[in-house]
Amino acid sequence: MAEFSLPANSKVQPGKSWPAPAGAKRIKNFKIYRWDPDGSGNPTVDTYTVDLDNCAPMVLDALIKIKNEVDSTLTFRRSCREGVCGSCAMNIDGSNTLACTKAIDDVKGDVHIYPLPHMPVVKDLVPDLSQAYAQLRSVEPWLKSETPPPDRERLQSPEERAKLDGLWECILCFSCSTSCPSYWWNGDRYLGPAVLLQAYRWIADSRDEATGERLDNLEDPFRLYRCHTIMNCTKTCPKGLNPAKAIGEIKKLMVARK
Ligand code: SF4
Ligand code: FES
Repeated sequence: MAEFSLPANSKVQPGKSWPAPAGAKRIKNFKIYRWDPDGSGNPTVDTYTVDLDNCAPMVLDALIKIKNEVDSTLTFRRSCREGVCGSCAMNIDGSNTLACTKAIDDVKGDVHIYPLPHMPVVKDLVPDLSQAYAQLRSVEPWLKSETPPPDRERLQSPEERAKLDGLWECILCFSCSTSCPSYWWNGDRYLGPAVLLQAYRWIADSRDEATGERLDNLEDPFRLYRCHTIMNCTKTCPKGLNPAKAIGEIKKLMVARK
């Protein structure tokens, strides 16, 4: 995992302000966390006042406008702008969500934007997800089968396929894991809701033949059982998924096989 760290005893300081263009009538303040690993200072919160009459409706639109027109140093991830890639996950107005599907008008007052909580910061709104991706790799999120491949698709009944609903839609934005206190405190050993939902996606797949091996891999006081059903994951998921339920299903299977 790459090493990224804030200064010792890092404390967020007030930052710079960029006013709205002259004549702007409908304005909104965006208060955005800034930290530059190449600078020597502490993080700041900078204020950008945006003319909403010249800005598209989503928080990501405002970030792109700020970067294009006001401050090109502002750094964030984004790709699809349609809620399907997971790149733009960040903490907006106190909740982890996707900037591209969060409407500016849904935020009352100033829009406070921080990187996903409790992750090392690469720069500004970009968290270092190396640990989360390594954890994802550890659950081997692909079909595992000993049966020789058929000369056509591996078929499922409609009922078997329906078991994947609520799982396949996950876009791995990690909003859930980074909202989870258990993951904040034990993220080096607890897999977190995003990765456990992915693990269950393959356990629940009728075509996969590695269920026992997958459960063995999760049978651990930390990797699985650090979930204490706090439910922040389900509350925050911008895709409306229920990682807590997926974790509960894994725990039930653990009990059933004893
Ligand atoms: S379960 Fe929801 S919040 Fe968690 S990674 Fe998947 S899409 Fe994101
Ligand atoms: S840019 Fe892809 S989910 Fe927001």
